[in-house]
Amino acid sequence: MYKQKIKQIPSRRQLLTTFTSVIGGIGIGAAAFPFLASWQPSAKAKSAGAPVRVELAQLAAGKMMVAEWRGRPIYIVHRTDAMLKSLRQQDSLLSDPNSERPQQPGYISRPTRSIDASYLIVTGVCTHLGCAPTYRPDIAPEDLGSNWLGGFYCPCHGSKFDLAGRVFKGVPAPTNLVIPPHYYEDKNSIIVGDEQEIA
Ligand code: FES
Repeated sequence: MYKQKIKQIPSRRQLLTTFTSVIGGIGIGAAAFPFLASWQPSAKAKSAGAPVRVELAQLAAGKMMVAEWRGRPIYIVHRTDAMLKSLRQQDSLLSDPNSERPQQPGYISRPTRSIDASYLIVTGVCTHLGCAPTYRPDIAPEDLGSNWLGGFYCPCHGSKFDLAGRVFKGVPAPTNLVIPPHYYEDKNSIIVGDEQEIA
């Protein structure tokens, strides 16, 4: 009887081993959790800022489609050759024709403000007070005048941008439309909101 009771009482060595294991386990758990928490983006973070893929194959020349990134409209315009030619014709009418202000990532080519000249990828938010400019590819429409070669018109206070999102002089918007970070995943798809694969 006495012998049995003695067997059930853990020795000092056993107690120390158990204590060390428990503390060690807590330590590992505490160390692992911050790593997992920072490694896995939350659903909110994903919906707020995760990059978005846009397929270009169905976008006909001359047309525009709208994607969304970080709650903002992203305009994607498939420019025709005629549209690209028009970009060279109105520099004197533009506020920042060479895109010298930081409204685009450094890898964007001028004057097309694009990676592939055929596609303009631009944030559809007016740089005056944030309205959504309207895509107006029509040439010399009555309401925009005989010099209009296509671009974007902001209905809120009349700002005008060309087909590269460059702002015209004499309008309320102070700067060109913003080009978001993006890259081509392949010939027909882009990733908006990331630029990690840009060389
Ligand atoms: S918000 Fe576009 S012109 Fe004012």
